[in-house]
Amino acid sequence: MLLNENLGPADIDRLVDEENATASRLIFTDQSIFELEQEKLFAKAWLYVGHTSEIPNEGDYVTRQMATDPVILTRGEHGKIHVLLNSCSHRGTLLCTSDVGSSRGFVCAYHGWAFGLDGSLKATADDMELYDGKVDFNTLNLKTAARVDTYAGLIFATWDEAAPDLADYLGDARWYLDLYHNRTPEGMEVLGAPHRWVVDANWKTGAVNFGADGPHAVKVHGPITAATFGMPPQTVRDSLLNSPAVSMGNGHNGILPLIPESLRDQLPDYPGYPADLIDLYTQMLTPEQQAMSKHLIGGVQTMFPNFSSVQVPAIFNPEEPPVNMLAVRVWQPVSATQMEIWNWFLVEKETTLEWKQKAMQMGVRTFSVAGTFDQDDAEAWAGINIGIAGQQSRQGDMNFQMALAYRDKIIPDFPGPGKAYPSNYGEVTEFDILLEWQKYMSA
Ligand code: FES
Ligand code: FE
Repeated sequence: MLLNENLGPADIDRLVDEENATASRLIFTDQSIFELEQEKLFAKAWLYVGHTSEIPNEGDYVTRQMATDPVILTRGEHGKIHVLLNSCSHRGTLLCTSDVGSSRGFVCAYHGWAFGLDGSLKATADDMELYDGKVDFNTLNLKTAARVDTYAGLIFATWDEAAPDLADYLGDARWYLDLYHNRTPEGMEVLGAPHRWVVDANWKTGAVNFGADGPHAVKVHGPITAATFGMPPQTVRDSLLNSPAVSMGNGHNGILPLIPESLRDQLPDYPGYPADLIDLYTQMLTPEQQAMSKHLIGGVQTMFPNFSSVQVPAIFNPEEPPVNMLAVRVWQPVSATQMEIWNWFLVEKETTLEWKQKAMQMGVRTFSVAGTFDQDDAEAWAGINIGIAGQQSRQGDMNFQMALAYRDKIIPDFPGPGKAYPSNYGEVTEFDILLEWQKYMSA
């Protein structure tokens, strides 16, 4: 098999079988495929690095990962955002070791080379004249991402000079991102530092699950889902079964769970949203987006390759109305069989401190390291590593064949862009992420 061999395009083409809606199990375990992903995918795609609200002022910085590369996200002069490789250009040590801070620049702890917020080399260990004019210091600036851009406060970067503009890369997905990130004039803010934890699973497991996996919600999460939504399990199942899933193009995918028609006269519009912000939503969202948001009970999406978001109107006290928690996360690849999840909670800047605290609390209880949902998922995902590690078990396929039943059932008059399918159970959108993955890998 392909394990530990050099992979050619013909081999890659066999890893994801579009016609049959299956993928080789090797793409979730094989380290040589993981290494190829770094070169073919993560060096080319736009990757999420942070939120504008995390670095509001000149000098602010946070340290992040772009896949296996450590980076510093800074706000430099005139508010310009930079993404710098966090590796000293002298001997390569990690330059900035803080998670977050504010500074005029970065000084390496090893020999003291100093760099500006834009990555330019300002000073070497001692008098730069000692180099006797033999060195071009312009070649020793920190490497920077080739392109950095934002959409709705979300900051993305790519190492690829030839990458399409971010607006084109996100394309139709922007309509769906707006539902969660662009619904008030001031936009969203990040609540606190990222929660980070390591899961023994390939990064694609998370990306595909959030792209998104409807049936697992009432199986692996079982009563947790029903309790969190404050609905009987059968109602949750019927909602997911009959709610749309959307392939937004360029590998971006998601599901839009909606309040079942039969319950719409019993529940308020905009469940889980702060009531005093609804006027603002109507200013920012189009009538079609408003009609969608009104009946949403959450939403889960993956922006290709490894940036996802989830919104859930959660109830922990049946006496109180639901409160939406919105989490964004990156599935950072660590090895073929391990990822680190970076997870942030977001809320509208315009809402009250009390609501922000509630939204954060709902997030911590549901989608975080100790959250009810993530504990279930981590168990199932780590089980995949064990389940497909053996000589026999690695030879099989990952099955997405519900897509065979749903992929031609495109909703003709869907109000949003992209291709919408009539069920969160369809597996079409999950599989679409792997089809996009194959495009990058075989390019
Ligand atoms: Fe940074 Fe030497 S490794 S100054
Ligand atoms: Fe889950």
